[in-house]
Amino acid sequence: MRMRKTSKRSNSPPSSQQNGNARSGPLLSEAAWFDAIRDRKVRVGIVGMGYVGLPLMRTFCGGGFQCLGFDVDLEKVEKLNAGKSYIKHIPSNLIAELVSQNKFEASADPRTLRECDAIIVCVPTPLTKMRDPDLTFVENTAHLIADNLQRGQLVILESTTYPGTTREVVKPIIESSGLKAGKDFFLAYSPEREDPGRTDHTTETIPKVVGADDPASRKIACALYGAVVKRVVPVPSCDIAEAAKILENVYRCVNIAMINELKVLFDRMNIDVWEVVRAASTKPFGFQPFYPGPGLGGHCIPIDPFYLTWKARQYGMSTRFIELAGEINTAMPEYVIQRLAEALNEKEKSIKGSKFLVLGLAYKKNVDDIRESPSIELIEMLKKRGAKVDYNDPFVPKTPIQREHQLNMTSKKLSPAMLKSYDCVLIATDHSAYDYDMIVANAQLVVDTRNATAGVKSGRGKIVKA
Ligand SMILES: NC(=O)c1ccc[n+]([C@@H]2O[C@H](COP(=O)([O-])OP(=O)(O)OC[C@H]3O[C@@H](n4cnc5c(N)ncnc54)[C@H](O)[C@@H]3O)[C@@H](O)[C@H]2O)c1
Repeated sequence: MRMRKTSKRSNSPPSSQQNGNARSGPLLSEAAWFDAIRDRKVRVGIVGMGYVGLPLMRTFCGGGFQCLGFDVDLEKVEKLNAGKSYIKHIPSNLIAELVSQNKFEASADPRTLRECDAIIVCVPTPLTKMRDPDLTFVENTAHLIADNLQRGQLVILESTTYPGTTREVVKPIIESSGLKAGKDFFLAYSPEREDPGRTDHTTETIPKVVGADDPASRKIACALYGAVVKRVVPVPSCDIAEAAKILENVYRCVNIAMINELKVLFDRMNIDVWEVVRAASTKPFGFQPFYPGPGLGGHCIPIDPFYLTWKARQYGMSTRFIELAGEINTAMPEYVIQRLAEALNEKEKSIKGSKFLVLGLAYKKNVDDIRESPSIELIEMLKKRGAKVDYNDPFVPKTPIQREHQLNMTSKKLSPAMLKSYDCVLIATDHSAYDYDMIVANAQLVVDTRNATAGVKSGRGKIVKA
């Protein structure tokens, strides 16, 4: 990637790859941007090479753009430059190919951002211990951008956040550089809608909502995404784009809570909630199925709605649907443990002293992401009650170090003999790779939180749904 001529600062970033598509000079006008996008002369910098940033890089590289991946995690940067992926659904050979063709390089040096025309921010937006938005990553990134900003650059925030973040938080920090949004540089918000593990949609096929507070920023950001995704949905402001993303996540969170509550009720009524959802789903309109589970997981649904809750307080409102959904969903692991204790009780056993095998550590099927996974909580709850617990997850060979959990466990290899040795097998995640017939055939007791054993014909007496 060839270094661009910097307009404000003289100390250059370390030299990087030669850009086959190189052009000179900043993109100061809409027309210059459109030409550069058409000719694939735009260099796209992606900040945060995680579950969102890495697939986005693949999309832009696939669309003919040269990409720089900036991350503060040196280990990730080194792996990427060595052609290695650390995310299951992004193959290493793809990274290696892009690196060898000079289409992609990673860096931990923020000065490399000066070489980019567009800077797309995909950094984490977690909650603090008090469940307030933790915008530290977004703010730190905005400061790094401000320190390296070039005239004509386009900055887009993709991290999920409350409405107002781009306008109230990101813009003032970047404008502390002395350059003005919409005039000297362009600023937009476009929510990421990645759903890891999905095979029916990719970043290219998922419509991209793009909001900006001035027409030039909106047009340029739409044109850039329009070059790589099938459909762009322009919206009038960053606030609307931010709110749209939160709405999507609140919608899921509330509906999942509703079905989780109904699961508990239907269990008491001896009605199988999964059969109920299957039947209701045949209605061709007015109903969308949601499925119960052992609790919410992942980086989005358990967290993002509370960004809005926090913001709502500034307007003297409480988001009651979100609070109630949170309450119901966070009670689910406790409910699973209760069902499991009852099932063991039937066998004159207690949780204390029993041996458990938890199947699936990831928060949902066929991914390797364990953030906020209810499996972790279930393991901790069982251990706290005196159980011996192992786990198996084909995608998580050992438990990574996490800020709030130190499980220090390794995935046990599945076999008929080992399955027989556990008092209970708890299906927490319904990975497709599991042979559920084999699992039920050999387990003493199966507690299934995902209806993963629906297709199993024999041994059904051993299965308890929870
Ligand atoms: N994971 C998903 O499925 C998903 C889906 C939609 C939206 N989102 C949203 O996208 C955002 C990113 O999520 P993710 O899952 O990719 O997170 P992630 O943790 O997988 O990746 C974030 C990356 O950002 C890096 N980072 C942190 N601070 C940085 C900084 N100052 N400069 C450069 N890099 C920095 C981290 O090292 C990490 O590699 C979040 O706001 C999330 O809510 C995630």
